[in-house]
Amino acid sequence: MFLVANWKMNMTRDRIGKYLDALDGRRLSSVLTGTRHEVVLAPTHVYLEYLSGEASRRDLPVRVFAQDVSTRTEGAFTGEVSVRNILDVGAVGSILGHSERRQYFRETDAEVARKTGLCLKGGAVPLVCFGESREEREAGKTLEILRKQVSGVAEEAAKASKNGLDTPVYLAYEPVWAIGSGANASCADIREVILAVREDFSWPAPPRILYGGSVNLENIASLAALEHLSGFLVGSAWLDPEVFLNSILALS
Ligand code: 13P
Repeated sequence: MFLVANWKMNMTRDRIGKYLDALDGRRLSSVLTGTRHEVVLAPTHVYLEYLSGEASRRDLPVRVFAQDVSTRTEGAFTGEVSVRNILDVGAVGSILGHSERRQYFRETDAEVARKTGLCLKGGAVPLVCFGESREEREAGKTLEILRKQVSGVAEEAAKASKNGLDTPVYLAYEPVWAIGSGANASCADIREVILAVREDFSWPAPPRILYGGSVNLENIASLAALEHLSGFLVGSAWLDPEVFLNSILALS
């Protein structure tokens, strides 16, 4: 399983140090022993270099992802952070198109697709979020929305594969109504979405699909039993390193 802690805008340098102390190289390694789980931590851009440096100094088996990248590659774009920038400071991929970016910063499907293409071209792993709002779900538009949000991403994956690039594409189904609400999607809901994503597009290779939205210690093991589910993208619960470690144990 691909286990991604999205720290959003919550951490500070001091708190990151304490988080890593709690994971400690040997402790996390022993929790991961005999499993095929991969662990990813996603801080804000300013802590990417600190986190990747501290993780390798402590011999922690974690990878570092950014939470977003620019639609531009380089040049006069004040305040933007490029794919090359994040790779330069130790990140290996980026979350893209999170619903908070779509909702609060008006990020469009076209921009998310463009960022996906730039990540694939630059050698950073894209983890693209998609998911419907409560109103869209109630109007029966869940699959329509996912097709709209994912089609450009699938096109970029096909283009990259045609160009001989083999960086994998990860997707995260994060229904907006489930994020931070305490109400997770049901296994049946997630199963339906996974099947639609796998079957409705011509992927060069089946994309790995994660689930996110109110994942916690109580529900993670039952959600993990879903066929074709490749991992979790978790916000609030995994701000606590003990819950993070216990979640991995609950999956083992
Ligand atoms: P919560 O786990 O807090 O619901 O957040 C999910 C999320 O947005 C992860 O990207």
